Amino acid sequence: MPIDFKTHEHDVLIVGAGGAGLRAAIESSAAGAKTAVLSKSLLGKAHTVMAEGGMAAAMGNVDDRDNWRVHFADTMRGGQYLNNWRMAELHAKEAPERARELEAWGAVFDRTRDGRILQRNFGGHRYPRLAHVGDRTGLEMIRTLQDHGIHQGIDFFMEYTIITLLKDGDRIAGALAYDREWGHFHAFIAKAVVLATGGIGRAFKITSNSWEYTGDGHALAYEAGADLLDMEFVQFHPTGMVWPPSVRGILVTEGVRGEGGRLVNNAGRRFMFDDIPELYKNQVARDADEGWRYVLGDKEANRPPELLTRDHVARCINREVKAGRGSPHGGVFLDIGWIKGNKTLEGRTIDAAYIQKKLPSMYHQFKQLAGVDITAEPMEVGPTTHYVMGGVKVDGDTQMSRVPGLFAAGECAAGLHGANRLGGNSLSDLLVFGKRAGEYAAKYANETKSPAPSRDQIDSAINAALEPFGRTSATEGPYQVQYDLQDRMQALVGIVRVESEMAQALDEISRLKERARRCRVEGHRQYNAGWHAAIDLGRLLTVSEAVTRAALERRESRGAQFRDDYPDKSAEFSKFNIVLRKGPDGAMQVIREPLRDLPPELKAVVEENK
Ligand code: FUM
Repeated sequence: MPIDFKTHEHDVLIVGAGGAGLRAAIESSAAGAKTAVLSKSLLGKAHTVMAEGGMAAAMGNVDDRDNWRVHFADTMRGGQYLNNWRMAELHAKEAPERARELEAWGAVFDRTRDGRILQRNFGGHRYPRLAHVGDRTGLEMIRTLQDHGIHQGIDFFMEYTIITLLKDGDRIAGALAYDREWGHFHAFIAKAVVLATGGIGRAFKITSNSWEYTGDGHALAYEAGADLLDMEFVQFHPTGMVWPPSVRGILVTEGVRGEGGRLVNNAGRRFMFDDIPELYKNQVARDADEGWRYVLGDKEANRPPELLTRDHVARCINREVKAGRGSPHGGVFLDIGWIKGNKTLEGRTIDAAYIQKKLPSMYHQFKQLAGVDITAEPMEVGPTTHYVMGGVKVDGDTQMSRVPGLFAAGECAAGLHGANRLGGNSLSDLLVFGKRAGEYAAKYANETKSPAPSRDQIDSAINAALEPFGRTSATEGPYQVQYDLQDRMQALVGIVRVESEMAQALDEISRLKERARRCRVEGHRQYNAGWHAAIDLGRLLTVSEAVTRAALERRESRGAQFRDDYPDKSAEFSKFNIVLRKGPDGAMQVIREPLRDLPPELKAVVEENK
């Protein structure tokens, strides 16, 4: 029997209320499009808040040698040249304007002595480039965008989850959703949909991501016919908390290292000096003195090795732990207290109060959760799944996927970061490409007739969503399956990968899919967390398969992908990205897609910054 649903009509539907979704909504609404934003949880809870240390934008406020060209070259080098160069170019050029716009909308950035936006050091960025608000930059960004957006006539739907995207022929026609509170169904008819759902961290056991990050946008787009790109590149942030167990994986911002935090092993050795990659040999300090000078603002000194790219730092930490040189709870030590007694470039004395002011959240997080005073004692940290470079393949200028009317922005889109994202490039990504997605979605909607998705599509999606309630003889619920998936992905497709383990992961994923198909959900539709987990599980399985297949295909080590069986970069694999597409038989196809050549003017920018 058909189940009731409510219909809503909009020009542009935005899924996700993090930085990219909110920025897209502001732009779309400003362009006159009737705009709705759906968010899986409450406003203000997006993973954007986990980009604590800052937003990368080459404003040159702290070092006037910085400009878009250096930022572009840093981003390409960090991404090991697999990036969509057009996105890297637009991002580097437009980020400063997006930062200043955010300031005009009310973001209260930290300041230089002469009143400009203060910028700090971060891994892989040649100059201090991260505009920041202590260690709460993402939070301030969300607050500002919410305040600005809320007055624009945008319709907000909180605690709504998408079940499926709706189509009218080949083009997008909206989405079917349910609300968590009542479990009611809602058909959102829209000419354009912007996916801004963030990442896939919940596919792994140890993650900085909260429960919402189950790869919804990735999986919905894939099912609707869009391509996924670069899914093998999952970023393990080097520093998450490792203790106590209840908070394992919570982020410890790179801002700690940006402010001078040192990584040491249980013998007190700064192990990051032991292995400096070829690509960075001419930029990284060879000894503690030089790195120390850089931290305190000496323009001529090279940066400390703790500020190498995240992929490298995470692997070095992994190596120390595996070799038995780790901390008591399976991490390494991160020490910021050493810096006390020094002076900043501007002549301020660094004491405990200064550290607390620059890193207030870290201070409270460690004090309250682990009983550690970071101004006096080292933190224990280890890698945590933080971000996925892979996502929906989009056009660099417009952010539209290969499905007409379907756009993606932020973490759930791919291209900008290539094989590895530089810290701080995500907040600027959200603003630059959120704005572009909103602008082009509104333009597309303006030029398109209203779609008419079939009633059949809606009914069958509702029936499929309700199926788990009917499996009364099944014994297993979705949580155990989800737990087993996370466990397997962490163990078999984690920081260090080999073919045999990934092949095993694929087998296990197909068995887990079977179990998911038989899962049972009890109770009713109102606020039923088990039912929601059953729906999320399908997405987690899709993205886990995509990560594993792409990682198997790329037989080399590059950026965030480290293969123990292929430990070097390969010339062959430097020539293409890996695309995952749903084939006509429903199976996941793996396609090698050649990279587009860098145009001569951008090649020159890379060369001049080598
Ligand atoms: O470490 C951090 O503050 C995270 C920043 C980011 O992921 O961009």
